[in-house]
Amino acid sequence: MDVRVEAVPASITFPLRQQVLRTHQAPGQLALPGDDDPDTCHVAALTPAGEVVGTANVRRQAPPWEPGADDTWRLRGMATSPELRGRGIGARLLQSVLAHVDAHGGGLVWCNARLPAQRFYEHAGFVTRGEPWIEPDLGPHVVMWRQVTAGA
Ligand SMILES: CC(C)(COP(=O)(O)OP(=O)(O)OC[C@H]1O[C@@H](n2cnc3c(N)ncnc32)[C@H](O)[C@@H]1OP(=O)(O)O)[C@@H](O)C(=O)NCCC(=O)NCCS
Repeated sequence: MDVRVEAVPASITFPLRQQVLRTHQAPGQLALPGDDDPDTCHVAALTPAGEVVGTANVRRQAPPWEPGADDTWRLRGMATSPELRGRGIGARLLQSVLAHVDAHGGGLVWCNARLPAQRFYEHAGFVTRGEPWIEPDLGPHVVMWRQVTAGA
C-alpha cells in the first residue's frame, strides 16, 4: 500500500495510539503536556484515503538520569496498525522524527521502550540503559537511547 508519512496535529494520532498502545484509556485521555510545544513533532503514516496507520512523536524532554540536560528529546507514541507491521512503516516514522531532531540541532533521543519492541529500536541504533521494569497497565519496558548528530 502507498503510505505517506507527514507531520500532523497531535489529536490526529490519538485513535491509533489508543487502539495500539493505550487500550485502557479513551482517545480523549491521550493528550500530554508538551504536545503543542513549538519544537514537538507528531508524525503519522497515512493511506491514500487518509486513514492513520502509524504514529510517532518527539519532544524536547530531559531523560530521568540527567534531569537538567539540554538538547535531549523523548520519543513517544510509536505505533503501526497491526495488519501493516513488518513493511517498513515504523522505520519511516522513526526516521521522520529523528530527521526533525537533526533539523533542530540534534541531541540525545530516549524512550521508554516496550520490551517486545526492543529489537525494532536496536535496528535503528538505539541502545538499552538500565534494567527493565513493569509499567502498570502497559507491561515490561526498558529505557533506550541514541545520539543524533546534526548534519551527520
Ligand atoms: C514496534 C512497531 C512500531 C514496529 O513497526 P513496524 O511498522 O512493524 O516496523 P518496521 O516494519 O518498519 O520494522 C523496521 C525493522 O525493525 C524490525 N522489527 C520491527 N518490529 C520488530 C520486533 N518486534 N522485533 C524484532 N524486529 C522488529 C523489522 O524486522 C525491520 O527490520 P529490517 O529493517 O531489517 O527489515 C510495531 O510493531 C508496533 O506498533 N508494535 C506495537 C506497539 C509498540 O510496542 N510500540 C512501541 C512502543 S515503545
